[in-house]
Amino acid sequence: MSKVSGAPLRAVPFKITNPELIPSKRYYDETFFELEREHLWPHVWQMACRLEEIPNLGDWIEYKILDKSVILVRGKKGVQAFHNACRHRGVQLATGHGNCKTSGFICPFHGWRFSMDGENTFVFGRGIFSEDVLDQAELNLVPCRVELWGGCAFINFDNDAPPLIDTMKPIADRLDVRNVDKLKVEWWVSSVLPTNWKLAMEAFMEGYHVMRTHPQLYAQPYDPSQKAEADVGGSPARARTSRQVVETFVHHMELLGDGMGGMVSKSDIAIAHELIESGIELPEDPTQTVPAFMLHLNDEITTRARARGIDMPDLNYLRANNPAAPVEFIFPHYFLLPQFGNMSSYRIRPLTAETCLFELWSLMLYPEDEQRERPVAPTPTPHDSESFPEIPKQDYSNLPLQQLGLHAVGFENMRLSKDVEGLISNYQRVIDGFLEGRDKNELAKAIEIGSGPLGVPIQDIGF
Ligand code: FES
Ligand SMILES: [Fe+2]
Repeated sequence: MSKVSGAPLRAVPFKITNPELIPSKRYYDETFFELEREHLWPHVWQMACRLEEIPNLGDWIEYKILDKSVILVRGKKGVQAFHNACRHRGVQLATGHGNCKTSGFICPFHGWRFSMDGENTFVFGRGIFSEDVLDQAELNLVPCRVELWGGCAFINFDNDAPPLIDTMKPIADRLDVRNVDKLKVEWWVSSVLPTNWKLAMEAFMEGYHVMRTHPQLYAQPYDPSQKAEADVGGSPARARTSRQVVETFVHHMELLGDGMGGMVSKSDIAIAHELIESGIELPEDPTQTVPAFMLHLNDEITTRARARGIDMPDLNYLRANNPAAPVEFIFPHYFLLPQFGNMSSYRIRPLTAETCLFELWSLMLYPEDEQRERPVAPTPTPHDSESFPEIPKQDYSNLPLQQLGLHAVGFENMRLSKDVEGLISNYQRVIDGFLEGRDKNELAKAIEIGSGPLGVPIQDIGF
C-alpha cells in the first residue's frame, strides 16, 4: 500500500536523478526487479484480459503476473476477479481458460468447490474441521479488484488504489470516441523476449528509431504534419506530382501495415488504392496533397464500414477534433496503436529481470451482428522467428542486443533526447514514485501525465 503524504520515502537503488539519464542497472539488477515485484506490480491497474476471452456466462481466464495468478470469470454479477488459491490449503484452482457454468471451480487436491461467483459451495468431510475455521465468508474466494475499459478487464491488487479512469482519463477520451470497446481480435501472437519488460515497452515510445530500425518507413511523402518527425536524422525522400505523392503515401501505409493487422488494415489499403485509381482530384501543391487525400480516404473508410453494419466512428471528425497519437500507452504494460478505424495493441509482462512475455493483437471493428470465436492465448513464437511481421521483427532484432549492451563496462546510463524520448523518462520516474512509496493520488496524477502518446518531451510528473 502506498504511504500517506508526508511519510518518509523509501530509498530506491539506481533512482533517476537527471530525467535525461536512465541508469542501466534498472534493466537487469535483481534487487531492482524485486522492488518492482514488491512495490509496483501490486499497486497498478493491469490489463488482465480482453472481454471477448470470457464472452459467456461461466467463461473464465487466468491472468498471471510474476508469482501472482488471478481468475477472471464472467459470473452472474458480471465480470469478477478472484485470487487463484483454494481456501483450504492454497492450491491454484484454475490454469489457462475454461467454463465453469455447470461445474464451478473444483479444487484438484481435496475437492472443495466454488461457484462462478466465488462462493464456497462444498467442503468434503465438513465434520472433520472445527466450525470456527469454516466461516463462510472466509471460505469464499478472495475477490480482486476489477474494472472494465476499452473492451478489456483490468485488475489491481491494491484495494486502496484510485479508480482506473483516474490514471488514464485523457487516453480514454481519445480512444472511447474511436469505439475502442467494440474492437474484436482478428489475431493474437506472442513471444518471449530476452529483454527486461521496460526495454521492450520503450522500443515503442519514440519514433526516433524509425530512421535506422525501420528504414522502409522512413521515405515519407511530403506531409507537413509528419515533417518534424521525418526530419529527425535526415530529410525524407520527396515525391513530385500529386499522384506520386499520394502513391508514396499509400506505399508507406502498406509498409506500416505489413503483417500488423488492425493498425493499418488490408481493407484500408485496398480502399486507398481504389481511390488513386478512381482519379480523384488532388491539389498539386505537395503540402496539400496528403491532407486532401486523407479526407477522401477517411470518408470512404467510414462510409463503407457503416454500410457493412460496422459502428465506425467518423474518421474525419476524429482527425479534426479528437486526434489520437499513433501509440497510446496505458501504464504500466499495455498500449494501443490507432491509425484508421482499427488498432493493434501490445501487452508486455515481466517474466524475470531479463525476460518478458510480449503479446501483439490485431483488433478490428466488425459488423455488429458478426459472431467471432473466443480468442485463446497463443503459444509463444520464438522471438527470432521469420513468421513475425516485418516491423516487430525489426524491433525484436535490436532488443536482445540492447539488453546485452546495457551490461557493458562503462555503460552507466542511457541518455535520452529531452524532446522526443521523454515518454521513457516520464514512465521510469513514475516507476520510481511507486518504488519509493509515494502517495497513491500523487501516483495516479503522475501516471496520467507520464503515460499517453509516444514521442512526447520530458514532462514534470509532479515529483
Ligand atoms: S487444497 Fe483445495 S481442497 Fe484442499
Ligand atoms: Fe519500432
